[in-house]
Amino acid sequence: MKLAIIGGGSSYSPELLDGLFARIDQIPVSEVWLMDPDEKRLEINAAFARRMIRHRGVPCSIHVTTRLEEALKEARYAITQIRVGQMAARIADEKLGLKYGIVGQETTGLGGFACALRTIPRILEIAHLMEEVAPDAFLINFTNPAGINTEAVIKHSKIRTVGLCNVPIGMIMDASKHLNYDPAGVTMDYVGLNHLSWVRHFYYKGEDVTDAVLEKFIEHARLEWEEEDTRNNMIEAIRRLGMFCNYYLQYYYSTDTALRTIQHKTKTRGEEVLEVENALFAKYQDESLSEKPEELSKRGGAHYSTAAFHLVEAIENNRQSRQVVCCRNNGAVPTFDDDVAVEVSAIIGKDGAKAIQQQAPAPSIRGLMQLVKAYESLTVEAAVKGDRDAAYEAMLLHPLMPNAGLCTKLLDELLEINAPWLQGTFF
Ligand code: G6P
Repeated sequence: MKLAIIGGGSSYSPELLDGLFARIDQIPVSEVWLMDPDEKRLEINAAFARRMIRHRGVPCSIHVTTRLEEALKEARYAITQIRVGQMAARIADEKLGLKYGIVGQETTGLGGFACALRTIPRILEIAHLMEEVAPDAFLINFTNPAGINTEAVIKHSKIRTVGLCNVPIGMIMDASKHLNYDPAGVTMDYVGLNHLSWVRHFYYKGEDVTDAVLEKFIEHARLEWEEEDTRNNMIEAIRRLGMFCNYYLQYYYSTDTALRTIQHKTKTRGEEVLEVENALFAKYQDESLSEKPEELSKRGGAHYSTAAFHLVEAIENNRQSRQVVCCRNNGAVPTFDDDVAVEVSAIIGKDGAKAIQQQAPAPSIRGLMQLVKAYESLTVEAAVKGDRDAAYEAMLLHPLMPNAGLCTKLLDELLEINAPWLQGTFF
């Protein structure tokens, strides 16, 4: 069975492969294809992966290619972890945000918007090529902004897709650690969008343990939100809503303090990640290294491979198990369109993910969810059609964007900076 990793030159690839090799008896992948335009990184990751294989005695081969078609042809799974414009584009988004005094974060607000405009055409190129060379394959998307990219594939391709994020599984792992639970016994009543979600209830082996889990999360909130004022606002929101709040909700519930934290840093997160990556690739080249290094934990992708291969294993073995993923709504969250991407519990089996019918979100969370969903859907439309008006409307709607006049100026600037990746659209 062939697995393609698109963006195989990423510093996350060893994390992903480590998770695959640990479960190879349940997921019979015999060939992994790493595809990336960066040949140097590809070779480093491939050599490291081969050492991991030798060390573990895993029956799997590693192939590299810079050609998308070669990677995708007859693949059973394609995992996308691409970064269009590489880290430099993420840093440019962050700096544009700083210039306009707004959040320019990788997935939320301006940064997520710019990243989506750059990325959607490439994700759709992958999906459309899969329709030709691997029509029965699953596209598993980690590429940020994961919810928006997943919605683009849902709406504009026939390929079966599931969007993934490490946040939901991270919540299960943290709750289990704090309360000494077996993670397999924890389920969540989880509703929202990618990076905009709430947990209304936690259950352990069928028993409602929400109060105990929330108290533990509040006790350990420092691990989630380092900065005190932001943390206090998040604790306030968690207590008043009686729900656990996704880490990324800080940009909405504590906008001023989250922005202040970004503004006071000497480096943007993208600049920090560049340094972490340089150190990681130096490590990956060490011929004595055959297991993923500790330094990988300096990236934000904890549990990344667990999420990926829980999902693949459940599809492959038709488990009909419950996992939180980003998928087509299909009526599961009342008041949202069928064809939008939502992040909810779904049943995972041989046909992919089927969202489980949800209780309607209360107005206290539904309002923000509707607003951001409308922004996301307009962003998909803007990217697919190269439509400036849709792009402007998306910005105007987003609560973290500037005033109407500045949105026009910012959009012009953003499109000019990103022109190399927009391939003539919008102009
Ligand atoms: C979390 C998020 C991911 C994001 C990552 C950023 O894991 O869920 O969507 O990509 O953080 O990590 P980085 O090391 O790139 O800042």
